[in-house]
Amino acid sequence: MQAYQDVLSEVLISEEALQKRVAELGAEISRDYKGKPLLLICILRGGVMFLTDLMRHIDTPHMIEFMAVSSYGAGKRESSGRVRITLDLNIDICDKDVLLVEDIIDSGHTISHVIDFLSTRRPQSLYVCALLDKSVRREVHVPIRYSGFEIPDKFVFGYGLDLDDYYRNLPFIGVVDLKKYHPEG
Ligand code: IMP
Ligand code: MG
Repeated sequence: MQAYQDVLSEVLISEEALQKRVAELGAEISRDYKGKPLLLICILRGGVMFLTDLMRHIDTPHMIEFMAVSSYGAGKRESSGRVRITLDLNIDICDKDVLLVEDIIDSGHTISHVIDFLSTRRPQSLYVCALLDKSVRREVHVPIRYSGFEIPDKFVFGYGLDLDDYYRNLPFIGVVDLKKYHPEG
């Protein structure tokens, strides 16, 4: 696997900008859920870094849970619209105030499927917090209550988001230069 510097075309969102915005989102969530115990559900694996930073800025009582989803049938960097739950929750969410923590909403198929899936379990409320919103690519409407950044139609990686499962550790969001990227060597 290449070093990230060799496939990076530009830093789209710096570490400082990410940290500032995540702190703002945490403060907003804390205000909105004051007096209401919250359940944050992180969508693995892309939402992990966002969740762990975000929860440090939520100063009201909350729990965390994890779910994993995969979309299949299309190319590696395309959502096919067919989504499967690969890791379900271990707890009952009936009557809970739930906030889904997701890295990016692209076509919208993944999160829509998760919303439909969880709605049948009758949570008290169910909202979405997404770090990135690639809204120009939207195919199905997604109500995003908390949105970090609107981004253009470019493939990004870092801060939890992967390029073929690598580079999730980077503290910033970068744009990949697909001409320079040679995963096989
Ligand atoms: P959607 O179903 O098209 O909204 O796709 C959402 C999922 O695709 C996200 O949860 C990401 O895992 C992945 N994804 C979409 N765009 C990007 C990107 O630019 N970089 C990394 N992953 C992405
Ligand atoms: Mg994801």
